[in-house]
Amino acid sequence: MKTITTVRGLRISLGKSALAPIGFVPTMGALHEGHLSLVRNAIAVCPVVVVSIYVNPTQFNDKNDLKNYPRTPGSDLAMLAGVMRSNDIVFMPQDKDIYPKEDNRRFSFGNLDNVMEALHRPGHFNGVAQVVSRLFEIVKPGKAYFGQKDFQQLAVIRELVRQTGSRVEIIGNPVIREADGLAMSSRNRLLDPELRKKAGVIFAALSDAALLIDKNDVPAINEHVRHKIESAGAFRVEYFEIADDLELKPLQSKSEMKAGRKYYACVAVRAGSIRLIDNVEVPVM
Ligand code: PAF
Repeated sequence: MKTITTVRGLRISLGKSALAPIGFVPTMGALHEGHLSLVRNAIAVCPVVVVSIYVNPTQFNDKNDLKNYPRTPGSDLAMLAGVMRSNDIVFMPQDKDIYPKEDNRRFSFGNLDNVMEALHRPGHFNGVAQVVSRLFEIVKPGKAYFGQKDFQQLAVIRELVRQTGSRVEIIGNPVIREADGLAMSSRNRLLDPELRKKAGVIFAALSDAALLIDKNDVPAINEHVRHKIESAGAFRVEYFEIADDLELKPLQSKSEMKAGRKYYACVAVRAGSIRLIDNVEVPVM
């Protein structure tokens, strides 16, 4: 694989390869098996794959979160070298490459930017849209790979592509989990070891939600999930919602479920100073 740090270098390298479609895996580094699964999926169908590693400042609404976000370029490159081919590219741009001037664009995603994560991380999805649209402009991918763990981000990016008329195909990929069910995340390595031992309870509670929906309604499931997670240790549930994957409209009752839609139980949990999100599909009742 090649490592490229400038937009010009990337364009020259991709121009030479003339292979389509370009597969693209945008990341913020601190890579784990979840990222590698995206890269493997891209490699399976795309003759050339670009993985970007860039910690995007505009999507952090909390300065400390940006400062503490794990940065592990050495091990990221070693992990990628284990799966990428000789013509694939790791793109590691600087701020000046992504934002040559201040990005004042304001996107409007309606309800997608009004629920769940958006209520707790104001401006986050605007920053994600800024960087993803800019990266699409630079890489010009045919297919882009995102993890389903970031359920709301995936819906926002699909909407971004729809609004901008971009022809990139967005491919959602399953959540990859640790042995105890904890969804893989770059932030897991920042967890206090005692909390890490107990964090499997988040997936266990979401799995309960998927079973309980048969005989219970949303408020009772909400109570169960919150109680199960919060009584396991120093966890605080920020939100628990069951929402569809198109409009992301949180359900008040399962009677609102529509046939042909997919629904996900979504949760955000504070584990000490670390914030974890996860989701599990629930059957339509
Ligand atoms: O999911 C992420 O890691 C980031 O939000 C993304 C899509 C790479 C944009 O910075």
